[in-house]
Amino acid sequence: MATILAIETSCDETAVAIVNNREILSNIVSSQIAVHRPYGGVVPEVASRQHVEMVNPAIAQALSAAHVTWDAIDGIAATCAPGLVGALLVGLTAAKTLAIVQQKPFLGVHHLEGHIYASYLSTPDLEPPFLCLLVSGGHTSLIYVKACGQYETLGQTRDDAAGEAFDKVARLMDLGYPGGPIIDQLASQGNPHAYPLPEGQISLPEGGFHRYDSSFSGLKTAVLRLTQKLQQTSPTLPVADLAASFQETVAKALTKRAIACAQDYGLDTIAVGGGVAANSGLRHHLQTAGTHHNLRVLFPPLKFCTDNAAMIACAAADHFNQGHRSPLTLSARSRMPIADVMQLYSR
Ligand code: KG4
Ligand code: ZN
Repeated sequence: MATILAIETSCDETAVAIVNNREILSNIVSSQIAVHRPYGGVVPEVASRQHVEMVNPAIAQALSAAHVTWDAIDGIAATCAPGLVGALLVGLTAAKTLAIVQQKPFLGVHHLEGHIYASYLSTPDLEPPFLCLLVSGGHTSLIYVKACGQYETLGQTRDDAAGEAFDKVARLMDLGYPGGPIIDQLASQGNPHAYPLPEGQISLPEGGFHRYDSSFSGLKTAVLRLTQKLQQTSPTLPVADLAASFQETVAKALTKRAIACAQDYGLDTIAVGGGVAANSGLRHHLQTAGTHHNLRVLFPPLKFCTDNAAMIACAAADHFNQGHRSPLTLSARSRMPIADVMQLYSR
């Protein structure tokens, strides 16, 4: 049993958590959404400065909320890739410094592996193999989870990520930031069949299409054209119907790919992760299709879907138990395929 303190600063949440294997002892998240809202998106330099201010109070809060001292901590972890490098460096440097001062092992964690581990926190009996549908502001991936540190990406987005599409469509309709929750809320009051929208498909040279990859930039352009056309005839946009039609198209596209992928690879469980897992349209379509195809579909609670450090600590605990450790020379990387996770560790 490993007790890990982890720091997550890859984007716009300063998060610190203490986890004992799959059990959360404390989970502190300090969100910067309000700070970035006036800019309509995350400003990297502002995010880094904010992390510097928030990280030490968050560490102190995590220890006090867990009612533990450093003696109880077996290892110290931080997200090191992928993400905003300046932001990652704040958490990574804090974790390495603490590892030296407290004389504890240090572990770097891949952010997407963290999102996968969110499902272990909410479903502690979950064991690989399973399929993870990871849908966030930066990623839309179907990942074959084979074991701790062993992943194969079977599908990904060719352009915009699912969350990015929600944010961009909200922006073009002037709805505010972040767009996902706003569109989700509006969609509940609209007709999902009001406007048929094209679902992007990746064509293959031989005339077929790529079964598991997704594309959302064509859909985004279609919404833009539609809003421009509607604005010519009416001063007010039917935002609820537009939001519902857009959400329906995204939810169906993701559901179709996830179900096909799970069936083709003989996997009986789909675990969803990332901020877009909060989306009610996706939850509805994927749960319904899962029941129909006899697949177990897991949606972690919202607080584990969006960025948090508990999922990072949970991943680190598993690696710690396998004897994996990271060198203190480990650096932050803006990009890193999840298949390369084991490069972060030596035994
Ligand atoms: O995983 P996350 O917190 O951060 C990373 O990107 O790593 O995901 C944030 C994304 C944003 O694009 C946000 O608009 C989207 O998740 N999101 C949603 C919903 N809640 C958050 N998208 C659709 N429906 C939602 N309810
Ligand atoms: Zn994330």
